Amino acid sequence: MDRIIVTGNGPVQGQIAIAGAKNACLALMPACLLSEEPLTLTNAPRLSDIKTMTELLRSLGAEISALSDGQVVAMSCHGAVNHVAEYDIVRKMRASNLVLGPLLAREGRAVVSLPGGCAIGARPMDIHTDGLEKMGATIELKEGYLHAEAPGGGLKGAAIDFPFASVGATENIMMAATLAKGTTVINNAAREPEIVDLASCLRKMGAQIEGDGTSTITIEGVERLGGATHQVVTDRIELGTYMLAPAICGGEVECLGGQIGLVESFVEKLHLAGVDVEETDKGLKVARRNGRIKAVDVKTEPFPGFPTDLQAQMMALLCTAEGTSVLEETIFENRFMHAPELVRMGADIDVHGGTATVRGVEKLKGAPVMATDLRASVSLILAAMAAEGETVVNRVYHLDRGYEKVVRKLSGIGAQIERVSE
Ligand code: EPZ
Repeated sequence: MDRIIVTGNGPVQGQIAIAGAKNACLALMPACLLSEEPLTLTNAPRLSDIKTMTELLRSLGAEISALSDGQVVAMSCHGAVNHVAEYDIVRKMRASNLVLGPLLAREGRAVVSLPGGCAIGARPMDIHTDGLEKMGATIELKEGYLHAEAPGGGLKGAAIDFPFASVGATENIMMAATLAKGTTVINNAAREPEIVDLASCLRKMGAQIEGDGTSTITIEGVERLGGATHQVVTDRIELGTYMLAPAICGGEVECLGGQIGLVESFVEKLHLAGVDVEETDKGLKVARRNGRIKAVDVKTEPFPGFPTDLQAQMMALLCTAEGTSVLEETIFENRFMHAPELVRMGADIDVHGGTATVRGVEKLKGAPVMATDLRASVSLILAAMAAEGETVVNRVYHLDRGYEKVVRKLSGIGAQIERVSE
């Protein structure tokens, strides 16, 4: 397995281009199942998760070609030849469950493996299945697979109240509702930018959707959808991740393509911690104000609150802040696995349930550490960039899921970082 070796270095300087959003692309790609016309995505990120989704959609009968080195994904599906999303694909990538809604809407049936748990939590699908059942689907769990059917002429519009603003369930129900008979209203819908991006792509395909970006989304079912070409929205999590490089190391970095509207609650916390963020005509310029980072408290919440996907990276910043910070993780039940690894580097962190208390220390020290999930991996790299000495991050395959060319991007701003294959 590959490892990444980072040696603490001084301030960083330069520009980083931010890619298209992994979590938008993973919802946009299954939309190709909703139409027999071609769907082309531009600004697609070059990530292993995108390759996994491509493999899954091809197994269902979609024709997919990745053009210009993967930045363009051209898809068309003249009719699913298979309706089974296999366990060995779904367990690798939970987002595979986003084929459930489109397959049900287009084909009236789907067999999708339950993803099973992952490092950060149990990841159930009850909100997805309850919503689809309200639309008339019958869903039965057999040997780890959800067997779903839309009997009697297909899905019907329904009023659906989400107990939690689930991103994936909002995406699945929104896609299913585009071809349902009648009107679907999702109350307590997720408001993430990736939801808005999916809705805008579906509208280009002919869907009638209103309210995306708010807690109430209304979808008027139509007979059929056409094709579209859509540019994937900028990845706000990659953006926030790289904004933390100058915050942690000192110096100044311009994140090209960054838009402040994607990271407002995150930027508020950076300001409180002593980091300046300036909008430029190319993106966002980030620099740490003089002196030490100040401790801040963070609570993760659904958008527009502080994103759970930036919690681990923010903890890496707060490890060397002046004072004590409290981080509350409210979205996932087990998303502090980066904490014991940061403690190996000299951080002073106590975790009790969903709360981590971080007492700032002067400086971290390099150490061999273990990446446990996608966002934990990159938080260890950020911490290592400002630590004393050498850090070896093991199991970096997690990184390839969500960060394209991370070594090249970080060494481009002055980090001393290399990837070695075992
Ligand atoms: C999406 O996951 C993202 N993944 C996650 O990013 C992100 O952390 C998460 O949204 C929250 O923002 C993709 O978009 C591919 P949820 P998703 O449904 O849709 C519970 C990353 O690092 N829940 O909003 O799975 C669930 O267990 C990944 O890029 C139910 O209980 O998130 C979790 O505790 C990690 N029942 C919470 O809701 C359900 O039916 C949030 O889940 C669905 C979810």
